[in-house]
Amino acid sequence: MTLPAHALQLRSRIGDDARLEVSLVEVPVVAPQPDEVVIRVEAAPVNPSDLGLLFGAADLSTLVAGPGLSVTAQVPAAAMPAVRGRLGQSLAVGNEGAGTVVAAGSDPVAQALLGRTVAVMAGAMYSQYRTVRAADGLCLPPGTPAAAGASCFVNPLTALGMIETMRREGHRAIVHTAAASNLGQMLLRLCQAERIELVAIVRSPAQAALLRSLGAQHVVDSSSPTFREALAAALAATRATIAFDAIGGGRMAEHILVAMEAALADPAAPYSRYGTAVHKQVYLYGGLDTGPTEIRRSFGFAWGVGGWLLFTFLQRLPPQDLARLKQRVVDGLHTTFASAYARTVSLRGMLEPAAIAAYAARATGAKVLVDPQAG
Ligand SMILES: NC(=O)c1ccc[n+]([C@@H]2O[C@H](COP(=O)([O-])OP(=O)(O)OC[C@H]3O[C@@H](n4cnc5c(N)ncnc54)[C@H](OP(=O)(O)O)[C@@H]3O)[C@@H](O)[C@H]2O)c1
Repeated sequence: MTLPAHALQLRSRIGDDARLEVSLVEVPVVAPQPDEVVIRVEAAPVNPSDLGLLFGAADLSTLVAGPGLSVTAQVPAAAMPAVRGRLGQSLAVGNEGAGTVVAAGSDPVAQALLGRTVAVMAGAMYSQYRTVRAADGLCLPPGTPAAAGASCFVNPLTALGMIETMRREGHRAIVHTAAASNLGQMLLRLCQAERIELVAIVRSPAQAALLRSLGAQHVVDSSSPTFREALAAALAATRATIAFDAIGGGRMAEHILVAMEAALADPAAPYSRYGTAVHKQVYLYGGLDTGPTEIRRSFGFAWGVGGWLLFTFLQRLPPQDLARLKQRVVDGLHTTFASAYARTVSLRGMLEPAAIAAYAARATGAKVLVDPQAG
C-alpha cells in the first residue's frame, strides 16, 4: 500500500495564557524503519488517563468550538501549577489502540505483522496512522476486529497487575473502588476465575446492583448511610489487606484502612496502642476525585498509602512475565478482558461538545471508542 504523506492526529496544548486547545492537525505519516510497522489505526478507547492529557484541568463549562477543527477551554488559575511541565507543547493523545499493519520494515519481525490486526500501547493513538516498533505490537488472532482489541493493554494489564501485586506483597484478598468501571468489571471476572475474594466499593445503588448481577459477593455502596458498617463487615468476611483506590481524593483510603484494622484486631489479645502488626496497604491508582487525599490516622502503624502506575509495574516485570500476561489478555479478549463502549466517534466527533460532555463524564458504562478512519 502507498502510504499517504499526511494524516490527521488529535493534539492538546495549553498556552501560557491558560487557554487549552484540543485540535485536529495534519501530521506526516512516517515511513517504517527496518524494525517498525505502520498501523492504520481503527479503534482507540478514551480512558480516564487519556482525558487527563486531553483536557487537563480545563474548566469544560468554558468550552468553545473553533477556530477550525479545534475547541478551546480555560484552565483555572489554581490548576496551572500542575500543568506547568506541558505549557506550550502540542501533545498527541491516546495511550492505546488497534488497527491494521499497512506497511512494514524489512526485519522479519516487522514483515510478519503485515496485513495483521495488532494492538499497541504506544501513545498518540488518536491518529489515522501510527508508526511503531514491531516488537511493541500485540498480534491479534485472525478475524479479531480492531474494536475488540483496542483496550488490550491499559485496563487488562492493570487488572492483572493488581493481582500480581497482591500476591507478591503477601495479601490474599483485594478491596477495589470505583468498582463498576470497565476495569472493575475485568478485575471482578479475574478474581472470580482465580477464587480471590474482592470487596467492590461503588457509589450508587445502581452500580451495586450491576456488580451483584455479575456475581460479586462483597459489594459496598459509599452513598449508603451505613457504608462504613457495611465496609467493616466486608473486610471482616474477607480479611483483605490491600486496596486499589481509583478515586484518590477525599477520605476513602482512610475508611478502608480503618475497616481493615478493625477486621484484624483480636478482641481477646492484650490491648496495644500501636495497633495490629499486620501491614495494610492502599494504592491510589487513579484520580477520579482530584481533591486532596485526607487521612485521619486511627489504625495503628502497620500501613502504607502509595501510588500505583501500570507503566512502573511493567518496567519492573521480567520480560517472560510480561509475555505471559499479554498472552492471557489475548486468550481472554472476548471474555475476561472484554471492554464495553457506549458509542464510537470519529476524530472530528471527538471535538463535538456533546461528545466531549459524554466522554468527559467518566460515568459507568459510558466509555467511548475513537475510530480514526471514520467520517
Ligand atoms: N494507575 C494506572 O496505571 C491505571 C491504569 C488503568 C486505569 N486506571 C484508572 O482506573 C480507573 C477506571 O478506569 P476505567 O477505564 O475502567 O473507567 P470507566 O470505565 O470510564 O469508569 C469510570 C468509573 O469511575 C466512577 N467514578 C467517576 N468519578 C468518580 C468519583 N469522583 N468517585 C467515585 N467514582 C467515580 C464512575 O462511576 P459513576 O457512574 O458513578 O460516575 C465509573 O464507574 C480510572 O480512574 C483510571 O484512571 C489507572
